[in-house]
Amino acid sequence: MPLGREIDDPGLISAGRVAVRIIRWGDAEPLRQLLSENRDWLQRWEATHPAGRSVVPGSVSMRPLVRVLRKQLRAGSGMPFVVLYDGQVVGQLSVSEISGGALQSSQLGYWVSQHVAGRGITTAAVALVMDHLFGVLGLHRVEICIRPENGPSLRVVEKLGLRHEGRRESYIHIDGAWRDHECFVALRGDANAGYTARLLEA
Ligand SMILES: CC(C)(COP(=O)(O)OP(=O)(O)OC[C@H]1O[C@@H](n2cnc3c(N)ncnc32)[C@H](O)[C@@H]1OP(=O)(O)O)[C@@H](O)C(=O)NCCC(=O)NCCS
Repeated sequence: MPLGREIDDPGLISAGRVAVRIIRWGDAEPLRQLLSENRDWLQRWEATHPAGRSVVPGSVSMRPLVRVLRKQLRAGSGMPFVVLYDGQVVGQLSVSEISGGALQSSQLGYWVSQHVAGRGITTAAVALVMDHLFGVLGLHRVEICIRPENGPSLRVVEKLGLRHEGRRESYIHIDGAWRDHECFVALRGDANAGYTARLLEA
């Protein structure tokens, strides 16, 4: 069950050189270009359709996708962010599967362009978004599920101090097959002063 209400657009949320904001029409072309340039970098970690109907990201216009993603806000089911570094779009951070009712939970997924990897951008963006989900949306749980082979992504959740819940076998269809995932969770109250403040301190 989604939240049961429209989610407000939070505007720009930033810390230093890193910021996130909800995706908009103008992001379609820069994102298509980044997805196209980063084919090899992203393919191994990309969700695919089990029936083999997936289109290659970056090969088609992103405008219809932007429309679908923005609908999630109105439906209360997701928050499709882009990640900015010095004001430039460098990746995406998607909050999906937002559940209301007795769950109050959500899932996070992310990527950044290879040319800016290793600068702490994703870690900062996840911290900003988690603080928003707990502090403003009032969610209770945020989950991040990662393939065990994805060392860089495992470092993101480690640096943020998420709890390791365990392995979900054959959990998500990625790069053409069902893949095991290690699942990490943050619960409201885990980072008292917030994840962004904790990162800045560290
Ligand atoms: C996973 C990912 C989002 C991390 O983003 P990021 O902004 O580079 O994150 P950080 O800068 O905090 O770095 C995280 C780790 O990546 C590794 N890393 C650093 N520089 C790197 C580089 N140039 N290339 C690859 N990995 C690098 C390091 O292990 C780093 O941990 P450290 O800070 O302890 O050294 C990014 O690597 C990516 O987009 N990968 C492809 C898509 C993907 O895997 N998405 C996640 C699916 S769960």
